[in-house]
Amino acid sequence: MQKKHIMENIHINIVVAFAEGNRCIGKDNQMPGWKLPVDMRRFKELTEGHVVIMGRKTFESFPPKYRPLPNRINIIISRNKNYVPEMNGAEPAEVCICGSLGDAILLGTEKAKGQKLFIIGGGEIYKQAFDSLSVLIDTVYATVVKGEFEGDTFFPELSPLDWHRVKVESFLRDEKNSHDCEIQKWIRTEILH
Ligand SMILES: NC(=O)c1ccc[n+]([C@@H]2O[C@H](COP(=O)([O-])OP(=O)(O)OC[C@H]3O[C@@H](n4cnc5c(N)ncnc54)[C@H](OP(=O)(O)O)[C@@H]3O)[C@@H](O)[C@H]2O)c1
Repeated sequence: MQKKHIMENIHINIVVAFAEGNRCIGKDNQMPGWKLPVDMRRFKELTEGHVVIMGRKTFESFPPKYRPLPNRINIIISRNKNYVPEMNGAEPAEVCICGSLGDAILLGTEKAKGQKLFIIGGGEIYKQAFDSLSVLIDTVYATVVKGEFEGDTFFPELSPLDWHRVKVESFLRDEKNSHDCEIQKWIRTEILH
């Protein structure tokens, strides 16, 4: 009963930007070769004021001045019990280390208190989330970048049986944005009924 109650309170959102051609999300612990301020703005708008969960490598992939991500509770997943993240003056309560994705989600739900919970990557963490916790994921916010990119990290396929695309906004490349892209919102089919 208690477990059912806890599960009902967990609502996970996923944010990602991936290449349409090969679902690439990263290369050498950096983003693939696109420059998309439109995507960065969307990421900030979605996640600011909320709780973000990420793998240790994703945390370390951010430029130093964005570690931890400001105005968000940062939960970092690492098997290293002694991991000490950069704090850059953040309050200790704003940065937490968890030893598993499950623990991170429980802690994130507790800390969210009406705010939203976002898993923001990277490849290992997305894969574990879809493999073992997909029934707890409500929404996927995906920036789909036109083209195929070289990389070493990828985003899982979303089964059309389980996921329904509810929104798409298209953006054309311009002097600031290096590629055409679509900002998509997907909802788990089960919660639409
Ligand atoms: N395009 C996008 O939207 C996007 C978003 C995020 C990241 N990225 C890219 O993705 C890449 C990073 O992804 P990644 O797959 O290499 O790494 P990651 O998922 O960010 O982090 C992997 C690390 O998380 C920890 N971890 C993973 N599973 C765990 C578990 N079950 N229990 C405890 N700790 C666990 C481990 O940390 P320890 O080694 O410390 O134990 C592991 O090395 C980078 O290229 C980044 O730029 C892209």
